[in-house]
Amino acid sequence: MTTASIYVSRLLTDRAMDRLRTVGHPVRVGAEAPPSRADLLAGIAGASAAVITLTERIDAEVLAAAGPQLSVIANVAVGYDNIDLDAAAAAGVTVTNTPGVLDRATADHTMALILACTRRVAEGDRFLRSREPWVWGPRMLVGLDISAGATLGIMGYGRIGQAVARRAQAFDMKVVATARSREPGTVEDGVSFVHTAELLAESDVVSVHTPLTAATRHLIDADALRAMKPTSYLINTARGGVVDEAALITALHEGWIRGAALDVFEGEPQVNPALLGAPGLVITPHTGSAGEATRDAMGLLAVDNAAAVLAGKPALTAVR
Ligand code: GLV
Repeated sequence: MTTASIYVSRLLTDRAMDRLRTVGHPVRVGAEAPPSRADLLAGIAGASAAVITLTERIDAEVLAAAGPQLSVIANVAVGYDNIDLDAAAAAGVTVTNTPGVLDRATADHTMALILACTRRVAEGDRFLRSREPWVWGPRMLVGLDISAGATLGIMGYGRIGQAVARRAQAFDMKVVATARSREPGTVEDGVSFVHTAELLAESDVVSVHTPLTAATRHLIDADALRAMKPTSYLINTARGGVVDEAALITALHEGWIRGAALDVFEGEPQVNPALLGAPGLVITPHTGSAGEATRDAMGLLAVDNAAAVLAGKPALTAVR
């Protein structure tokens, strides 16, 4: 009989690594940086469980390299567009993610980006560091008051979208949303559900919170950007592919919208150099869930999912 073993592709937080070592199986640990494809294929070979992050692409080749004893892939992320679910199902491998534990951190980061854009925080920081002489001025770095009647349009009203809505309401924003599960014209907890065209035309800030699927790829394309107000802002803390970056770059240069903030990128971890020259853009390196307690909770949930499946129990949060 072979002993079960666990492969963890990257070093997780200390608490998650400690929990991993209590599961009772040998653990093979990758480095802090993402494994190369060759290292991933070699690292997962022979493992019964793999705890991986969103930087690892799991497909039929990786599942074959793992071998038939692999029973679970535990993704340390709520999104799972990095995993070929059909290939996993065909290989009899359970896939799990980390829903719920990162909603608040991601919503907090979304609010940080909304404020960074509308109140020109990054621009002010860059300005001071340029050592230009300055003095307070009534017209200096003036931006949008989100709390003076601005409307936030949330595209995708899952757990994270709802957490953003609650925060925006605390900032006195009016909130409208689109959701597959809600009828336009209905209102819930002060949030009005509308058609996409209405959301784009009326929102001062549009924030996307959908998973990346074939249906949501380039949800925000040139047509959507042209449908937004010229004074509005776009925020993306979901997945890079939800926004057509080339169209966004044109939109910012040509003033179709006033600004944008991206935490995620189409070619991640590559950032399109043209984005760096786009006016009114704030960028962060996919740190939406990067709170200390949140990263612990994500790692612990992924480890608990792997442990449950190895013990022959149902996963806590299986993807499907
Ligand atoms: C982060 O992007 C996640 O999906 O958890």
